[in-house]
Order: sequence, then C-alpha cells, then structure tokens
Amino acid sequence: MNLTSEQYAVLEGAQGRSARKAMEILAALGAIYGAERMIPVASVQISGVSYDNLGEAGLEFLSEMADGGGRARVLTTLNPAGMDIENWLALGISPEFAAHQERVIAAFERMGVITTCTCTPYLVGNLPRFGEHIAWAESSAVCYANSVIGARTNREGGPSALAAALTGLTPEYGFHLDENRRPGLRVAVQARLETAADYGALGKAVGQILENRPHRPVPYLTGLAETATLENLKSLCASLATFGGAALFHARGVTPEAERYSPPEERIVIDQAALDAAWRSLNDATSAEIDFVSLGCPHLSIQEIAHLADLLRGKKVTKTFWITTARPTRQIADRMGYTQVIEEAGAIIAADTCCVVSPIQGRFDALATDSAKACYYAAARNHFKTRFLPFDEVVGEALK
Ligand code: F3S
Repeated sequence: MNLTSEQYAVLEGAQGRSARKAMEILAALGAIYGAERMIPVASVQISGVSYDNLGEAGLEFLSEMADGGGRARVLTTLNPAGMDIENWLALGISPEFAAHQERVIAAFERMGVITTCTCTPYLVGNLPRFGEHIAWAESSAVCYANSVIGARTNREGGPSALAAALTGLTPEYGFHLDENRRPGLRVAVQARLETAADYGALGKAVGQILENRPHRPVPYLTGLAETATLENLKSLCASLATFGGAALFHARGVTPEAERYSPPEERIVIDQAALDAAWRSLNDATSAEIDFVSLGCPHLSIQEIAHLADLLRGKKVTKTFWITTARPTRQIADRMGYTQVIEEAGAIIAADTCCVVSPIQGRFDALATDSAKACYYAAARNHFKTRFLPFDEVVGEALK
C-alpha cells in the first residue's frame, strides 16, 4: 500500500502505541485486499460490544487500546451491548455480567467513543451523507448505509472498525470503489409487500439465492414500491445481510444509486410462493409455545414505538415482552408518554441492547418477533423456536 509520510509516522508510533496498532491492522487489511491507499472516513460504527460476544480477551484488547492512548478521531458510535446500561436489572441480567459490560463501555468511553449502543445509528445522530466513506460494522446498518443512503462502507469487524475510529482512515477496497458497487443480478419482485416483516421475508428469499452464488452478486431489485418506508428498508437490510451476506443492494425507484445502472441481464423472480415459503421457514413454534416476545431488530424507530403504544394502551401483556431501541429514541418515547403506556401494559423498553446480543440462552423456549434476522439468531444462537409475524400480530401474541 502507498502510505503517506504522515501515515508512516503513525505506523512508527508517532501518535502512541494504540494508533500504531490501529494503523498496523488497517495496513494488514489493505495488503490482504489489494488496497492502494488509505482514505479518510466520516464516521465509524463499532460492533462486538456485548460482553457475551467479546469475552475477557476482547475486553483486554479494548482496555489496552484505551490505556495506550487510543482516541477516536471521527464520530464513532457503538452497536448494541449485552444489556440496558441504565436498567439491566429489569432484564434479569446478573450483576456479574453487568459489571463486565460496564467495563467494556468504560473502555470505549475512555477512547472518546460515543456510547450510543444501537444498530440504527442513522436514526440517532450518526447519519452519513450520500457518497461519504465510512467504516461501519453492524451488518444491517452497513447494508442500510450503502444501499438506502448511498454512503460507502465495507462490513468491518470489531477491531478494524476500532482501528478506523482511532486513525480516521480505512483502506480503499471493496464497496469504497465504484467497480464493486455494480449490480450483478436482477431480482424481479412479484409478491405483495405490505409490512416490514414482508420485507424481512423478502430479504430471506433473496439472501438465500445470493448465498448460493459463488461471488455474491450485488442484487438489483425491481418491483419495490417507491413508498417503501424506512422501517420496511431497515427490515429488508437486516434480512439480506443475515441470509445472504449482502452489504449492498439497489432497488429501482427506491435507492439512490439504482438509476446509475441498467438492470443486469441475468434475472430471477421472487413471486408470492417464494415469499410465502420464506415466511413458513421462519415459523416452527406454535402460538401456545411462545414465552418471549420481542420487537426491535433492528432497533425500533420512534414511529414504531408510537404505534406500539397505541396497540398496548389500556391492555396487559401476558408474556415477557422486550422492545429494543436506541437510548435517544427511548428518551423521545419517555417525553412523549409512550414509555409509560408501554410499561403500564407490562412490556419492557430495553435501550442499548437486543434479544440477540443479550445473554438469555436457556431463559426462554420460543420467541415471537417480526424480525427475520432475530428468528435466525434466536434459533442459531439461543436454540429458541420462533414465530415470525407482522408487527401488530406480534403484539397480539404478547397479549394472548
Ligand atoms: Fe440490531 Fe440486535 Fe437485530 S444488533 S439488527 S437488534 S440482532
């Protein structure tokens, strides 16, 4: 890689040992992927925040980087942690886990990272502009930033995202380059898409096709309504990334780069039968088996929380019900009185965390959710059965 003299100096320790380590990580990545140079990034989003994922070794690495003088040079936020940082007791988190998780957050804080723990940073102040280079890690947010916003990021790992934060740089390869953003497969969507869960099912159907292609082409979707909402698209992004490893898609009339390209010649169709099959594949629990209900994967927007408050007003839930969102979104919900309505119904608004990264294995048998991604991880990680339903029906499940 061609490093500037200033970047070489960082590599030789001019800005301390953490910046040196960070530059080593980025230079090694750049060499592996054939990058010619480093480019500045406008913002960073770091994953690997839950102590459940990091463990002691990960926490040690973070503490060393903080001790070694590491300081974020650009706007940097975090992915969800293993608990609500202010209200972990209500989630049944053990004091021991909470102490570990607090050490993780403290290490990030010492590095000047903004400890907003969310997978929807674009809703709460970490919102890149079209064409901006960023270094984000959470897969659903990466797909949203690349596709819906038109920013440019690879899917970073925890260490490479931290390295980007501490240097303000990333190697220029992958989705930072025009040639890798070209679509390679046209996906004609000929199915009814009404709810965010429909978009999640679509992401599963398309993702599975991408997963079986050797070079995972960038999909070019046709047939999506121009009125697809932010919530629809965040659901689609989470699912496409989970089931197809997709970090970018284009959708005619919906995403900003689509008009740059003609639809690729190779074409597949997702019809109603394919969408229905995706729905069925995410359902192996009966209603009677559900003992855990969760909404907020990805984290809920304030519009979704307002709608949820309407659905729960004056009612009582009968099952453990977590609503996961970003802390600033929760603060808006507090101010608007939505939190009170939801909590009076017996549900819990959990900020900073989610039902996937929280240590809940063994606590429940079956999850009801409107998130295809949450279904995947509930089964793979926590061995829960799943019931995949539209948002309003998930709430109905909690009230049964
Ligand atoms: Fe976000 Fe957790 Fe889902 S990080 S996308 S809520 S698995």
